[in-house]
Amino acid sequence: MSVTKQKEIETILPHGGELINRELHGKQKASYLDQIDSLQSLKLDAWSLSDLELIAIGGFSPLTGFMGQADYNRVIEDTRLENGTIWSIPITLPVTEEQAATFEIGQTIALIGEDDVYYGVLELEEKYTSDKEKEARLVYGTTDNAHPGVKKVYERGEVYLAGPIYLLNRPSHGNFEDFYFDPSETRKLFADLGWKTIVGFQTRNPVHRAHEYIQKTALESVDGLLLNPLVGETKSDDISAEIRMESYQVILKNYYPVNRTRLVIYPAAMRYAGPKEAILHAIVRKNYGCTHFIVGRDHAGVGDYYGTYEAQELISEFEKELGIQIFKFEHAFYCRKCENMGTEKTCPHGKESHVHLSGTKVREKLRNGEELPKEFSRPEVAAVLIKGMQQN
Ligand code: ADX
Repeated sequence: MSVTKQKEIETILPHGGELINRELHGKQKASYLDQIDSLQSLKLDAWSLSDLELIAIGGFSPLTGFMGQADYNRVIEDTRLENGTIWSIPITLPVTEEQAATFEIGQTIALIGEDDVYYGVLELEEKYTSDKEKEARLVYGTTDNAHPGVKKVYERGEVYLAGPIYLLNRPSHGNFEDFYFDPSETRKLFADLGWKTIVGFQTRNPVHRAHEYIQKTALESVDGLLLNPLVGETKSDDISAEIRMESYQVILKNYYPVNRTRLVIYPAAMRYAGPKEAILHAIVRKNYGCTHFIVGRDHAGVGDYYGTYEAQELISEFEKELGIQIFKFEHAFYCRKCENMGTEKTCPHGKESHVHLSGTKVREKLRNGEELPKEFSRPEVAAVLIKGMQQN
């Protein structure tokens, strides 16, 4: 048996057992491209394009296309695909009723981006009307239009197109190309690095001291850390991916062991679905080859829609079956009395000793060019954020 073969065997199995690859190359790609101008096309927004990409590169394994109605119903009602595999958020392709009426079942639809590039094709198997109120309630736990994920569900088309897809061209990731690895590449990377146990970390924020604390606490128990920031669509008041990516590089360079950490982008859109999104995030990181995943306080939450530990509670119900081990962390903070980071599990002091800054307060300080307390954020990170916020 070759060394590579042996290494492959040691990695965690993808969700559903097989790493999906729906990207076409060579003759197969050419044969689609030859006929593409004659196909009816559909323009994808940035959100759908990122879903197309994640399906094709295997991040969303075992999905091979946009979900049909049976999967959609069972996912929202039961947190499972029709075949019983755990899945928590519908991956659908919404269009308006008028658009849907122009497509016929059996048709191959060319999928183009907002930049008019042909990115892929959809073999249309189904079109069905979504139940948005039910989807919002069951997936997001609220029907409130002020919730950014729910708002998105309501804003997008009411008919969902479904069927298998193929990817013809990968979307560009601009300045982030050096940090783009698909799941087969991260799996190889981990094997080459000799990492057997890898903890994945999802974030849509800069890495502050609390994040660093939980990452490093996890890293004490595993071989490597995959810092895997989400760089797809986020709500407008989140810090942009460009600024964040600079801040991640700065903190890794100054405070993390280079041989135990890798930065790789997660090119998905943020749903803010709290507990249900924690499950999706864990599934995706499993597909990227992580054996462990961090779920801290209010994972993927927004506002006060979810309880602080609701994501941990829900994912615990599925953890054994998911196969990726979840590192759960309580709310972490810097304690002035301990002169250390900690949580209520490790620190005996009251809240008055703990450094706490809300996201809104942080943004306000950054916009005003004010330093963040070094107990909250590394100075090098704060400097990148201040520069970035002032340029925008
Ligand atoms: S998000 O993508 O989950 O919305 P965020 O950056 O807020 O991103 O959090 C990334 C991860 O760190 C999540 O697992 C979250 O639960 C955890 N986390 C964030 N802040 C804290 C904290 N102060 N204490 C413990 N866990 C935290």
